[in-house]
Amino acid sequence: MSAHRLSFTKVGKASEIPPGSMKVVKIGEQEILVANVDGVFHAIANPCTHAGGKLSEGTLKGAVVTCPVHGSQFDVRTGKSVSGSKFMFMRSKVGDAASFEVKVEGDDVLVFQRSVWGM
Ligand code: FES
Repeated sequence: MSAHRLSFTKVGKASEIPPGSMKVVKIGEQEILVANVDGVFHAIANPCTHAGGKLSEGTLKGAVVTCPVHGSQFDVRTGKSVSGSKFMFMRSKVGDAASFEVKVEGDDVLVFQRSVWGM
């Protein structure tokens, strides 16, 4: 039998992620992108919902991260897709990215996750 637990996990130091920057962190097997938008931290899944490109290797402008592979754009505050992927002259819709709650305690950045424990 297994049970679910809700918890925040420390993923790094706020001072390591200045405004306008991003950092990829891992919680278990899950890669999460943590972004600092004007001093407020946000977290979304790092793999792009189009074809798995690493959003952490893309660019952050304001609250929008652009995937380095085909240019899909996501709002890091919500995970919502704001622009689809581009291939030649075609643009395709992509799904929203999962988003996670973030809190800061002192200089620690914590991301809310759901974990499974027990057997
Ligand atoms: S993998 Fe991100 S837009 Fe294609």
